[in-house]
Amino acid sequence: MTKQPDTPIFVANWKMHGNVQAVQQFVSEISGVAAQMLGNSAIGARVIFCPPSCYLPHAVQAMQPKAQQHFAIGAQASHKAAKGAHTGDVSAQMLRDLGVCYSLVGHSEIRTSRGLNDEDVAQEAQALQQAHVTPIICIGESLADYESGQTNAVLSRQLAPLHTVLQGACMLAYEPVWAIGTGKTPGLQEIEAAHQHIKAEMKKLVQMGQQVRDSQPPLLYGGSVKVKNIAAILAQPSVDGVLVGSASLECDGFKALLQAGVEKNLQAAASA
Ligand code: PGA
Repeated sequence: MTKQPDTPIFVANWKMHGNVQAVQQFVSEISGVAAQMLGNSAIGARVIFCPPSCYLPHAVQAMQPKAQQHFAIGAQASHKAAKGAHTGDVSAQMLRDLGVCYSLVGHSEIRTSRGLNDEDVAQEAQALQQAHVTPIICIGESLADYESGQTNAVLSRQLAPLHTVLQGACMLAYEPVWAIGTGKTPGLQEIEAAHQHIKAEMKKLVQMGQQVRDSQPPLLYGGSVKVKNIAAILAQPSVDGVLVGSASLECDGFKALLQAGVEKNLQAAASA
């Protein structure tokens, strides 16, 4: 299957890195670059920047208005409850009040540190949708699951509670836990196979619901995405974008990543 020059999505997850100045610089530079580089509607790629939550207001304020079509601000996590005695947490509505349009949900680091199960992740995603914040739900297998051939079974288990969420606006990110921050990635065929499995499962789950959506939620790949592998990963037919951690921390590095990621699309658009 040849991939069409469609709409790659780039999510930059800064985790617990950065400061006010670095966040403002990233937003003003990259939102400008995104508008320039991705301004062609045949490409229409979108960059979603997820800084630490304390810097979300700075990030929103530093946005260049003309970049809004191609650049948005996302959070890294929120609480599944609307309010309550949850010291240190923020609710979906609080994110929305700040002008945040997306939020990661169930990143493996948070699943571990907060002891979240698949149900908690689904509830957090639903709370975000209710507040009109689009959840980017992270799923993926551990090294032990990968080595024992359990990848598809784990992905199916993580997806099962998401049947209601999948009826609404959302994105999914396949992030093998063992690929995050390690410099290791699955083979391209393994990425494609996992994505095809996720897409087939999503189709089944959506069919269980009341509404029929005309397109599937975008499915991103995350885990050690770098300049050297991004083009090959994005060329996989079932990969709609990437979720990038460490390679997003420097403006110049991230610009190079965007460039490498859209190069083929730019060429295809130019020759169309
Ligand atoms: P990485 O992180 O790109 O540094 O592997 C990805 C992620 O945790 O989302």
